[in-house]
Amino acid sequence: MLKRFPGGEVHNLVSTTPDTAVVFKPAVIKTPAILTILIFVVRSVVGVIRTLFVHPVAVTVVTTPVVLLIGYGWEVAVPVVAALVSIPSAWALTHRASFSHWIGRRLLAFWRRVWIYRRHWQPVMIVSGLGRHLQGRDYLPKLLRVECDGWADRVTVKMLTGQAVKDWTDRIEHLAHGFGAMSCRVTVAKSGRVVLTFPRRDPLAEPLPAVPIPERPSVGPVEIGRCEDGTPYLLNIHGTHVLVSGSTGAGKGSWLWSTIRGLLAAMRAGLVQVWALDPKRMELSFGRALFGNRYAASPEECADLLDAAVSVMQERADRFAGVRRFHVPTVADPFVLVVVDEVAFLTAYQSDKGLRQRIAAALATLTTQGRAVGVGVMAALQDPRKEVINIRNLFPDKIALRLDESEQVDMVLGDGARDRGALADRISPSTPGVGYVRLESSPDPIRVRAAYVSDADIRDMVAEFVGEAR
Ligand SMILES: Nc1ncnc2c1ncn2[C@@H]1O[C@H](COP(=O)(O)OP(=O)(O)OP(=O)(O)O)[C@@H](O)[C@H]1O
Ligand SMILES: [Mg+2]
Repeated sequence: MLKRFPGGEVHNLVSTTPDTAVVFKPAVIKTPAILTILIFVVRSVVGVIRTLFVHPVAVTVVTTPVVLLIGYGWEVAVPVVAALVSIPSAWALTHRASFSHWIGRRLLAFWRRVWIYRRHWQPVMIVSGLGRHLQGRDYLPKLLRVECDGWADRVTVKMLTGQAVKDWTDRIEHLAHGFGAMSCRVTVAKSGRVVLTFPRRDPLAEPLPAVPIPERPSVGPVEIGRCEDGTPYLLNIHGTHVLVSGSTGAGKGSWLWSTIRGLLAAMRAGLVQVWALDPKRMELSFGRALFGNRYAASPEECADLLDAAVSVMQERADRFAGVRRFHVPTVADPFVLVVVDEVAFLTAYQSDKGLRQRIAAALATLTTQGRAVGVGVMAALQDPRKEVINIRNLFPDKIALRLDESEQVDMVLGDGARDRGALADRISPSTPGVGYVRLESSPDPIRVRAAYVSDADIRDMVAEFVGEAR
């Protein structure tokens, strides 16, 4: 039986299918006009007050000319606005950094919030499946804040209740294309909130010149290049092992050479020895003089050199046992960094089974026991598949340069790295040296570019090192 509602007349009965006997009557509760107006006014006032607080600079820039025009007429408004504009212009011309920090980026954030994110929010959320359209209502994640820095927009979002971060990381492509960006990275701000990073330009597009050779001997962290935010990228070498993975031409050489360059002062001071394994003979041979007789190219020589490194390690372990737990580099016990270019040539692609096993055993021994006694391994690798290198997980620090397949990203950087934005398979071949790293302090990968150490730079390094060593 149909329920009777106040004011329900027979002519208000509605049938969706006129030919059937099914008839229903929507419950219509009339809202008084005054209530609707009141809600509208309260919402508008709250919106204006919120905008005033969130975007004070943008509001001032927009309202000042309007207020002057209405209050004093154009005869006053034009000269006053001209005078007011000349002050920030002079500021922008004389001190661009502080102007963009206090004014420029805030205006940009306001503009991009309104024009890009607010305008496209509803369709992008619904189409990507991050929002829901239920019974005529949209349930959308809340766009909380848009901030701009020199190269990217950071959009803070309150997720819908019940959503997981994975729901967002699975849709980074929808978000990037929806908001007109090349990529999107998702980081967790706090429970229920994520920050989406949309790059506006690629700050790592231009090659970086080699970092100056440090004056002070130090075993690291070594400056390798730059992060996206323009800060120097420092790589820990001492007390860890580093695996640099990238397909051919990805720029692994610049990572190896930038590391050696950063250690050069310490090498000169005798605090560091770099032992070089160069099975392709195309990379480290260029600076052979830096390594003295600790350079190997043929598989046999490489196996001998690795065994020698294991002996150094074991001898130190015998001496240090019960005396100290950490290695401090000294001239008597320098930090030994074993640099291996294309390690798979020695482990997977080596046809002599005996040699292959010897090399794999030595590498596994060094990577499991070497760091406390001051023996580190830095290896470069083209193909990170398990069957190619099964000691991959023995390297605590891993760097993913340009890779061929998306599955390889998580193989290098660990589970979930690609979902969190490490799109190493999308790195352009025109930007060698660019890669993703995961810092110990955060699960979110960061994008960095190593400085390019040219042949001339290596020649200078050799000249300086050999000159000094004489
Ligand atoms: N950091 C960099 N910045 C700019 N250009 C670079 C950088 N690193 C490398 N390149 C350029 O890319 C080319 C390939 O680099 P590199 O030889 O280091 O690649 P790779 O990863 O070692 O490749 P392969 O596995 O074939 O040896 C270099 O000849 C150089 O011109
Ligand atoms: Mg190479």
